[in-house]
Amino acid sequence: MTEAEGKSGIWVSLREVRREDLETLFRQVNEPEGMRMVGSVRDSHTDHDAYMARWETIFRNEKVTARAIVVPGGDGGVVIAGSIACFERVAEPSRPCRLLPGPEIGYWLGKAFWGKGIASEAVRQFVAEVGRRPLYARAASDNVASIRVLQKAGFREIGREMFFANMRGKEIEETLMVVEK
Ligand SMILES: CC(C)(COP(=O)(O)OP(=O)(O)OC[C@H]1O[C@@H](n2cnc3c(N)ncnc32)[C@H](O)[C@@H]1OP(=O)(O)O)[C@@H](O)C(=O)NCCC(=O)NCCS
Repeated sequence: MTEAEGKSGIWVSLREVRREDLETLFRQVNEPEGMRMVGSVRDSHTDHDAYMARWETIFRNEKVTARAIVVPGGDGGVVIAGSIACFERVAEPSRPCRLLPGPEIGYWLGKAFWGKGIASEAVRQFVAEVGRRPLYARAASDNVASIRVLQKAGFREIGREMFFANMRGKEIEETLMVVEK
């Protein structure tokens, strides 16, 4: 587990994802505003059973590092704000894109937690924790918040590509990013 106070003063912890987190995570990743920002999601993202089955494969996959992003909330307790993962992307027909030559990170916060510096702190902690370099990330070029979060964690742009965004029903541009140190 890693934890630290983010610049906005919110205490952010990363811990292993537990099965009891999954219903919350499923609800968060299916919020329409977030899906539109990301632009494209796999088929298993929106199907509850397929989503749960995919997490079972993630739990067994030693190449994936997944963390729940935990913040204070709920009457002195803690709540799940979202999740973050490092994985090696494989070709996925429902999410077509160029495969990058190394592990990628992806992250997602529930809408109620946006705009508080939580993702910035979570990505900073996670990039330090996984330690793998080069480490890649991608974001729709108009997902300004995500690109800013990555820049603050040391990522730089290495290219752009067009891909079909199934959540927007059209091709959009994606920015590819890397952190090398
Ligand atoms: C993208 C996402 C992770 C951002 O999380 P967040 O906790 O709101 O981000 P933070 O508060 O840590 O930081 C956002 C940064 O972007 C900036 N930002 C946000 N919207 C912006 C906009 N429209 N224009 C310019 N800057 C913007 C903020 O000012 C902040 O930068 P700063 O610290 O320099 O002021 C969150 O909105 C999310 O999970 N969205 C849905 C899923 C998603 O897009 N995941 C990423 C896939 S690549």
